[in-house]
Amino acid sequence: MVSNQRYTITSALPYTNGPLHIGHLAGAYIPADIYARFKRITGNDVVYVCGSDEHGVAISIKAKAEKKSPKEIIDKYHVIIKNSFKSFGISFDNYSRTSNKIHHETASKFFVDLEKKNLFEIKTSKQLFDPKENQFLADRFVEGTCPNCGYEHAYGDQCENCGSSLNPTDLINPKSKLSGEKPLMKKTTHWYLPLGDYENFLKEWIIKDKKNKWKVNVYGQVKSWIDGGLESRAITRDLDWGIPVPHKDGNGKVLYVWFDAPIGYISSTKEWAQKNGKNWEPYWKDPKTKLIHFIGKDNIVFHSIIFPIILKAKGNYILPENVPANEFLNLEGEKISTSKNWAIWLHEYLIDFPELEDSLRYVLTVNAPESKDNDFTWKDFQARNNNELVAILGNFINRVLVLTHKYYQGIVPKQIDENCEDFKILDEIFSYPEKISKSLDNYKFREGINTFLDLARLGNKYLAEKEPWKLIKLGNKERVSEIMFISLQTCAMLTVLSEPFLPKTSKKLEKILNLKRINWNHITKTKFLINSEHIINEPELIFRKIEDEEIEKQLNKLKGSN
Ligand code: MF3
Ligand code: ZN
Repeated sequence: MVSNQRYTITSALPYTNGPLHIGHLAGAYIPADIYARFKRITGNDVVYVCGSDEHGVAISIKAKAEKKSPKEIIDKYHVIIKNSFKSFGISFDNYSRTSNKIHHETASKFFVDLEKKNLFEIKTSKQLFDPKENQFLADRFVEGTCPNCGYEHAYGDQCENCGSSLNPTDLINPKSKLSGEKPLMKKTTHWYLPLGDYENFLKEWIIKDKKNKWKVNVYGQVKSWIDGGLESRAITRDLDWGIPVPHKDGNGKVLYVWFDAPIGYISSTKEWAQKNGKNWEPYWKDPKTKLIHFIGKDNIVFHSIIFPIILKAKGNYILPENVPANEFLNLEGEKISTSKNWAIWLHEYLIDFPELEDSLRYVLTVNAPESKDNDFTWKDFQARNNNELVAILGNFINRVLVLTHKYYQGIVPKQIDENCEDFKILDEIFSYPEKISKSLDNYKFREGINTFLDLARLGNKYLAEKEPWKLIKLGNKERVSEIMFISLQTCAMLTVLSEPFLPKTSKKLEKILNLKRINWNHITKTKFLINSEHIINEPELIFRKIEDEEIEKQLNKLKGSN
């Protein structure tokens, strides 16, 4: 397992225009959090950053809908979003906001530096304009049919259906989101990033080098964009909400949100460094640092083409090692939709299922849309919680702890040695850290968590075969002690290995088993994870069954919203 490696890990900055739902969590946050925790617990130098994406038209639209100012909107949702992340144990080292001063300064400096190097084109062209609202229709202010896939609700900057990045003028039948009117065309001047100039760079860096390293879905998308030729992209907008364009001709214009937001990863790292007396620069400039962007598939173009070009143009920055984007999570067979309220909102889940944060983490990992879109259903959620977390993991640990108290008053029995007939099974138990590491290093989180659960299955099978409760009645104390000692190693191993996946459960187990957290690289078979004479605390239930009525209630709630 790699250790002492520096990692800069990012999760997409969520738009601060509404609360988070399970699709967000499954796409860009849980996998990143598992990865960050895994890298920390194997002894690496990790900074995991994120923050609220507080600019862009998405915010202005929400402000209009709620009859509030954009500032009121971001202040409201920033807190809700931040709290949801905290509850689900997303272990950011820093969670920033793009409205912070440090971010405005950092993003402005990027623009100024690129402008000084003459890397922008300045072009005057006709753009969509809403005469009723007296406003240019950038990005999400306009909707229409995607020229690539025919999806009818593509935004002016992006089609969420096929992932392609668009210009408002590309849309077929554009319609203003503000007035519903068909827009006019009006002249305006903007700064453009000539993406085409970087084609050779992208071909070298991605097409040649990333072929078997990036996920097939990510690599495929990126390659087809590069092969299709890249057009210049405006990085300024005629809007009143955003970072003012730092230029003498920048009046009334702001930086395009997709120019400023990814720079937010850097500002967030700077803020973290300031708070912790660290230097941010090696995390972004040392070629030995590995930069990993966790995102949903609709963000691929920005993280694998546009932001790398910005970093490359700026110079001296590292480029992402990987962009392990996830596909989409559907809900009960339908696309999650904020406008139709077809979603499971995290802040509501937390009220309905207090204490069950890890159950959701578990189901969203085991069922993650890793290589194709996937479906979340409440029935599956219940089944996995009850049949896997409760019946396999919880049951195994509980049985071992109860028996340890019953037979040994909570004191770990005598250590086994090579003469024990089950000594070999320790090899198997101690092979799990390596196995799980392999999966996580390859961004196979489903495989990782399934392997983790296999260890609990192994533990259950072992107990069921050996039946220590029968042996004790036959007076075979020696043998029972061996079986219990081995089962306690399995419990300790489950405690250690659960940390990246189920952090809250892991903490509980550490407390019950009275164990300190250990670096996975320090685990060896020559040292037991839990020793003879060690005292464990009273068992507590670590999971609970979810009843049919609870699921019915959620299903009715969803139906009501449709
Ligand atoms: N706010 C964007 C979204 O929710 C993601 C921004 S990612 C960043 O789709 F790179 F720009 F930060
Ligand atoms: Zn499309």
